[in-house]
Amino acid sequence: MTQTSSFGTSKRESHDSSVFYQRSLYSELFQSELPSKEISQIEVPSPQDWDVNEIYQASSTHMHKVPNNSVALAFTSPPYNVGKEYDEDMGLEEYLNLIRDVGKEIYRTLVPGGRYVINIANLGRKPYIPLHSLFWELHMDIGFLPMGEIIWQKGKGASGSCAWGSWKSAKAPRLRDLHEYLLVFAKQSFSRPDKGESDIERDEFMSATLSIWEIAPESAKRVGHPAPFPIALAERVIRLYSYVGDVVLDPFSGSGTTCVAAKKTGRYYVGYDISQDYCTLSRERLLKTEPDSGMPEHGEALANLNHLTKSNHSSSRNGHG
Ligand SMILES: C[S@@+](CC[C@H](N)C(=O)[O-])C[C@H]1O[C@@H](n2cnc3c(N)ncnc32)[C@H](O)[C@@H]1O
Repeated sequence: MTQTSSFGTSKRESHDSSVFYQRSLYSELFQSELPSKEISQIEVPSPQDWDVNEIYQASSTHMHKVPNNSVALAFTSPPYNVGKEYDEDMGLEEYLNLIRDVGKEIYRTLVPGGRYVINIANLGRKPYIPLHSLFWELHMDIGFLPMGEIIWQKGKGASGSCAWGSWKSAKAPRLRDLHEYLLVFAKQSFSRPDKGESDIERDEFMSATLSIWEIAPESAKRVGHPAPFPIALAERVIRLYSYVGDVVLDPFSGSGTTCVAAKKTGRYYVGYDISQDYCTLSRERLLKTEPDSGMPEHGEALANLNHLTKSNHSSSRNGHG
């Protein structure tokens, strides 16, 4: 058996990292996992017991339709508060309060061992706002366990706008971002306490477990939403972090990309967005989406029957984005 040492190790099999994790750095800094005995006592509703495969037009600060401990994976890209048509002009504190409120709802609704993956970019240059760093802190304060960080590389960057004002000068060179972040959190346990079917292929698993993902961005014009992420990104997150037949939630679902990827990969989905237009767009995209291979029966039936008819109009104007 190998042990983590100052020189690392080349072997991954039978690797004993317990000494590393017993160091004060770990015991002082982070919340620990919930003991498995306590986890086993938590009641987890099955997707058959509630309304999955729905897009709700409502603010995700209150996801009344989603029971406690019912969602295996939440994947989202929040409004960045940068002036997109759905963005309010919020101050940083107000903005982070929205993200915190939604984070608490995600924590409530995730199953033990469930994951929350957040796609976020940092903003501006003068000053640079490291949103991803603020998001880490905020979600760990809620109680989420930090699992890792993925750099989503959106292009190679040979072309594109240049910092002409300081061309080849040290006066004020400006970085041109080619990447965004995916922050990965877990609730109560780093590993899933339950068993399930994984459908990720070997090569895809090898690529997906690297910390840099190179995936081309989606065209806003093609999708009809100002800031969609690509289906390939959502599909990779879903196959890596959830089992077939799990419930996947997107609290800022926009054009419904996460839900489309969930349906495609045989998962149940739930989406929340405050915009009626984007909810309609999501439902249309979902109607055109076929599962790659068999979907759980309940999901298939509900997907076609329900999501065009239901929406939670009562709270549709409570949102901030
Ligand atoms: C970055 S976009 C999500 C795009 C999505 N990932 C896609 O692929 O289309 C953020 C979305 O959050 C929605 N939004 C803003 N505030 C919200 C709130 N309080 N609750 C739910 N949705 C909200 C906006 O309408 C917008 O569609």
